[in-house]
Amino acid sequence: MIPVLDKKHIVLGVTGSIACYKALDLASKLTQGGALVDVVMTQSATRFVTPLAFGGITHQPVVIDLFDPQSELSVEHVALAERADLLVVAPATANSIAKMALGLADDPLTTTLLATMAPVIVAPAMDGHMYENAAVQENLKKLRDRGVTIVGPDEGYLASGKMGKGRLVETPELMGHIRAILGKDGDLAGSTIVVSAGGTQEPLDPARIITNQSSGKMGYALAEAARDRGARTVLVTAPTSLPDPVAVEVVRVQTALEMRDQVFKATANAQALVMAAAVADYRPRLASPQKLKKDSDSMTLELTRNPDILTETTGPIVKVGFAAESQDLAQNAREKMARKGLDLIVANDITDPESGFGSDSNKVLILGKNGQVEDLPLMPKEAVAHRVLDRVRDLMAAEKG
Ligand code: PMT
Repeated sequence: MIPVLDKKHIVLGVTGSIACYKALDLASKLTQGGALVDVVMTQSATRFVTPLAFGGITHQPVVIDLFDPQSELSVEHVALAERADLLVVAPATANSIAKMALGLADDPLTTTLLATMAPVIVAPAMDGHMYENAAVQENLKKLRDRGVTIVGPDEGYLASGKMGKGRLVETPELMGHIRAILGKDGDLAGSTIVVSAGGTQEPLDPARIITNQSSGKMGYALAEAARDRGARTVLVTAPTSLPDPVAVEVVRVQTALEMRDQVFKATANAQALVMAAAVADYRPRLASPQKLKKDSDSMTLELTRNPDILTETTGPIVKVGFAAESQDLAQNAREKMARKGLDLIVANDITDPESGFGSDSNKVLILGKNGQVEDLPLMPKEAVAHRVLDRVRDLMAAEKG
């Protein structure tokens, strides 16, 4: 379950494109996330994918005909428009975009789009030349000017066999936009939260680095959860293999020194800093400009201490640290909290394979500077992120006075 989707009414408009098969995945991810998805298909969309497939995924009737006596719309033709929290048209063909721009209402989808007060996302999918056509571009501009969010299209291999711009964006990108729009008035709205993620890399020479096992998953989960709750979110991240979260300001760094500079910059206008990054405590005193040669049996590296980013971040800001511990979790974390002047520390046991580095789940203790301790069971990193942000929200409110 994704909290920001829970019980949200989402109308998914599907229009006639070969990319209709991708809309099945989107419908599935939204339903798994807890949303109530009403699929509205144009007649041509039903030639690519059957309504039965969407109905099977969403467990809701699929609307294809305004005058179908079985459909809710035959009684109240704007029923879906009124109960929707969000409308998403994916894939949106050039024809459906033109109808929206003109304000036509000649089928269940365009009728619903015209009647809704909810935000609308349109994800175009079409041939590259069609997309570049001035008429399509003008229509998209009209929709954008009216407040519609246009997502994509992507560049790549098209159904025509050519390369070009016209591919429907992938599901994770659409999910990111959907979550950001649904969450924009959440309980963190109006605040800026800076999150750090990943393991910093300290170069030894042009080929080698000193790093650690952080995958970035915990930090990225925090950034996405903060975004889902309406915060302006800045993610300062060391290299990871994770995709950039949508609607999050991503700042890429490599070393601890670079992370310090970017965290300082981002926190100048922020209310909270959550450091989930595993920052290297030491870096090679000198990074060799040339690749080091293996001409002896042993090698001694001279390391120098990196600055402590949390300790050096000052100002009226809520500071949250993570403690990666292999023993005496609570005691070590408490000492770190005091030493670094933190409001909160999240201690994870890195000896448990399901917790800490690289895993999708985490088992943490959340300790407050007032002595409060929350001992959480093993849970997905997304859920841990929300529990941490609940505490950050309360601390920011207390800071405000
Ligand atoms: O990225 P994943 O694979 O999902 O793994 C998540 C995680 C295990 C990396 C994460 O949950 C975690 O514990 N992050 C902190 C790891 C760490 O560096 O812990 P530490 O005990 O060494 O440091 C304590 C705190 O000080 C951390 O918030 C750290 O970001 C911060 N620090 C550390 C060194 C430094 N020079 N400056 C800092 O600000």
